Amino acid sequence: MAITNHKNITIIGAGYVGLSTAALLSNCGYKVYLIEIDKQRLDTINTGKSFFYEDGIDPLIKNALEKESLIPTDNYMTAVQDSSIVFSCVGTPDNPDGSSNLSYVYSAAQETAKYIASGSVFVQKSTVPVGTGESIEEMFKTKGVNVAYVSNPEFLREGTAISDSLWFDRIVAGGQDKDAVNDIINVYKKLEQNRNSVAKIAGLSQEYTSKGEYFSTNRNSAELIKVTSNAFLALKISFANSIAKLADKTNADVVEVMDAVGADKRIGRAFLNAGRGYGGGCFPKDVSGLISSGLHHGVDLKIMTSATEVNESMPSYIVEKIQDIVHELKGRKVAVLGLSFKSGTSDARKSPGVKLANILSKNGAIVSVFDPKASNEASDDLRRDISIEGSMLKAISNSDVVVIATDWPEFIKTDWLRLKSKMSGDLFVDAVNSFEKGELTKQGFKYMGIGR
Ligand code: UGA
Repeated sequence: MAITNHKNITIIGAGYVGLSTAALLSNCGYKVYLIEIDKQRLDTINTGKSFFYEDGIDPLIKNALEKESLIPTDNYMTAVQDSSIVFSCVGTPDNPDGSSNLSYVYSAAQETAKYIASGSVFVQKSTVPVGTGESIEEMFKTKGVNVAYVSNPEFLREGTAISDSLWFDRIVAGGQDKDAVNDIINVYKKLEQNRNSVAKIAGLSQEYTSKGEYFSTNRNSAELIKVTSNAFLALKISFANSIAKLADKTNADVVEVMDAVGADKRIGRAFLNAGRGYGGGCFPKDVSGLISSGLHHGVDLKIMTSATEVNESMPSYIVEKIQDIVHELKGRKVAVLGLSFKSGTSDARKSPGVKLANILSKNGAIVSVFDPKASNEASDDLRRDISIEGSMLKAISNSDVVVIATDWPEFIKTDWLRLKSKMSGDLFVDAVNSFEKGELTKQGFKYMGIGR
């Protein structure tokens, strides 16, 4: 059933995925309604800004608002009734037992069901456990709603969301209705055709050449492709961190090891960077969601349980290594630089930098922290006795130890020789393995990497 009477696009949920998708599609020829129930978020978007930091997104929002091709709203009825494609991009937080909380997913589908016209396509972009689409299709049938369901998982990374979406590796669309799958693939083909002009509006460089692939699959395969991709990347990181622990004991350097191991094209170098482990709103939740999906179907994904255990051990492992060098943490002044879960984003969810700061403070260290973008988002998760500073210099002043917990370029490019003179001590902890060990040693630091 192909869409015969194409109207507009509705996107439900202005989170990282929904707002990025809306910003892109509304700049390549579609009229896009963006449904968001959080009034504050809606107000921010209406001023032409994203409520999170993301390279290139603000100019896209601003341009589409001016052209009236982006309509932020909290009204399902007007948006859905005037659209033939509805993308659901709502959050899927994890339940305390690790399974995915699908309450927003179901309520978005139920609310859509009230207004969606027969022959439209409902697209699931939220990351959901395999089998979710089947139950939503059932729900539509029970309510007598005649729509096609397409699973279209998202692979963009925070911090590079716009360029990832324009120069994608792959687009996956899966569903039982092949015409509807094709309709969705065509939306992305239109984005691909317009990628240079969209990049120009976003102010991004257009030097990429990637030729993305399109995969039409069945609905359940598409759901599984998404979580499998994230789980495999998480596995690579935990594997690298396990080898880093062995490298620490054997005087090998995990960076040298992974550079050579990753040169084997069958393995690849990406996501083999050892350090403080992965965080964020995706990997921890998607791995635990996959484990619980497996258990639900009688499959014990032990390999992923081990990956999680390794990941969770990394912040304390690093603090123990620091403790071995300084002997006593109590009363030591430690600066932790980097609170976002990675560079390029203000997102501090499940952030390893926050965990490191909290463990250090719990062990008696006097901790000060700094992040160029994420201090606000991290503040609620930090222990009360940690001081949040407005600059790198303030955070490291008189510190005995500096810990780099996020690979922000400004940390890496800074003149550390100059900053060292402001510190009381000389221990430099590179928890992201992003520095030249020899350089820092030359500048008089005692360098500690992870597995180096
Ligand atoms: C991840 C995936 O990379 C995206 O493809 C996916 O679309 C997204 O989840 C999602 O499901 O929405 P993201 O969480 O934004 O994207 O960030 P990544 O760049 O994948 O990094 C995840 C974490 O792994 C970060 O904490 C990062 O510092 C850490 N990491 C990454 C390492 O510790 N080592 C590495 O070698 C690579």
